Amino acid sequence: MCGIFGYVGDKDVCKVLYQGLKSLEYRGYDSAGIAVIGDSLSFVKDAGTVDQVLSSIKLPSKRAGIAHTRWATHGKPNQINSHPHFDENMKVGVTHNGIIENYKELKKDLMAKGHTFKSQTDTEVIPHLIEDYLKLGNFEAFKKAVSMIKGSYAIVAIIDGSEKIYFARKFSPLVLGANDEYFVASDVTAFLRWTNQAIFIEDGEVGYIQSKKYYIEKGGVEVKRKPTTIEWSFEEAAKDGFDHFMLKEIFEQPTTIRNTLVSKKLEEFANHLNTLDKLVLTSAGTSYHAANAFKYASNIPIDVIVASEFTSLYRGGEILAISQSGETADTMTAVRYAKSLGSKVDALVNVVGSTLTRIADKTIYTHAGPEIGVAASKTFTAQLAALYAVDAHMKGNPLPQIDVKPGLLHSKEIKKLATKLSGAKSMFYIGRGPNYVSAMEGALKIKEISYIHAEGYQGGELKHGPLALIEKGVPVVAICPSDKYREKMIGNIEEVKTRDAYIIGIGQEDDNELKSLSDTFFGMPKTDYPTVTYAVPLQLLAYHTAVIMGRNPDKPRNLAKSVTVE
Ligand code: M6R
Repeated sequence: MCGIFGYVGDKDVCKVLYQGLKSLEYRGYDSAGIAVIGDSLSFVKDAGTVDQVLSSIKLPSKRAGIAHTRWATHGKPNQINSHPHFDENMKVGVTHNGIIENYKELKKDLMAKGHTFKSQTDTEVIPHLIEDYLKLGNFEAFKKAVSMIKGSYAIVAIIDGSEKIYFARKFSPLVLGANDEYFVASDVTAFLRWTNQAIFIEDGEVGYIQSKKYYIEKGGVEVKRKPTTIEWSFEEAAKDGFDHFMLKEIFEQPTTIRNTLVSKKLEEFANHLNTLDKLVLTSAGTSYHAANAFKYASNIPIDVIVASEFTSLYRGGEILAISQSGETADTMTAVRYAKSLGSKVDALVNVVGSTLTRIADKTIYTHAGPEIGVAASKTFTAQLAALYAVDAHMKGNPLPQIDVKPGLLHSKEIKKLATKLSGAKSMFYIGRGPNYVSAMEGALKIKEISYIHAEGYQGGELKHGPLALIEKGVPVVAICPSDKYREKMIGNIEEVKTRDAYIIGIGQEDDNELKSLSDTFFGMPKTDYPTVTYAVPLQLLAYHTAVIMGRNPDKPRNLAKSVTVE
């Protein structure tokens, strides 16, 4: 996820772009850049925050420019990889949000035609492609380039000698701001201080803005669309109208999982793992739960060691460290310890260029975009998606088909249940097999943001102690898809039902037995990946309970997003 912004009008272009970009910084904050149209194209870009890179710049601009705040996906955050990107003749400048899946093939063809590339990004193919077709005319060249790109994108481009800003959208958000002058941005926060009139661009649409005019077309036919009046405040708009970043991030999961699954690097990494006879996973918190899910799925022997215990338990073998931030101190200590013993270290990380990626021998990425809420949500399901995709490649199976939308549809009913849970002193989450991982993650989520004490247990372990704590009304969340663990789980649910626990069953929608055992039941479609799909209702349960209890789920007490102390 990145923030893109363009402006055509009479105001000071650099100042407008800087101010707009500041409001988009929540979408990415590892690098920033601006390009403007003057007598020629000129630009400033570098690694760093919007303030560090752009607060005091002045460029010779004539009325139009584009800007970008980056969250790296291809290539480390540095000056060369920052946006905007240009062709070698400085004719075309482009900023892009999304992932170009066929960029390697396009780059090869363009290089064969004599184009030279500077960066490691997928984006850089776009200005070269546009430049290659400029003889068709600017807009035709832009459309031709867009038609050749596969993947997800919001693109804005400027072309030397023109005062238009060209745009295109597929699967990545893009919206125009319209009054007497025009804006194009990843979201309305970028231009809300100047206009609340927004024209939302749909997938497959291309067009341009220029002084006092905009044009949109789809499939060669002009699209007429009236502006929508935005009633949101700045803050609401940054959250896309959601009350909290965590809720927004939960709802982003269909996209973030898709973006992660299509990564080409996963297959390469799977081939590498197939050469090993053992792998040791290490990580913390939610990332530790993702590691455990991989252990249940994989055919190769896997040890999972929680990072804070690593130096006591590690006995050798190649490491896969999993971390959203790539900065967690416990995980870094584990990795450094393994390296000091001569072991190879691989990493699965969300933040490109983070410390862990610099230490690791091999890094693969989740493509979940920045996660602002302290509680991991979309990055957990992205980790699972990446690991299940690696597992599928290792076994020669097709890529996982994962649909998390059904879980999102339960949000309203979960909110009703949350009112009931808000009085609970303690809760239990139970599951068997990989669903035990879901139980651990569900319990972590609710304790982290609602502060209700919660335990995740293997269904079979209840009778070895915790059953003593089950009494009338204690909420027990039973994670029970219709898989090979179901029958025994039903037995475990009966054990707590007999003690008058309040059963919240999550299982396959046609499971009438589970439904009748449950006081509240959430039905889910049949799935081969319940750890991913069932994560969504568990996240929503934690979120709504926290909000009803008056907690701020984005900033839970005593916790930080990146835990950089041991
Ligand atoms: O950035 P990391 O994945 O290394 O972070 C590990 C944990 O600190 C993190 O998952 C934490 O448990 C989350 N806040 C849980 O929601």
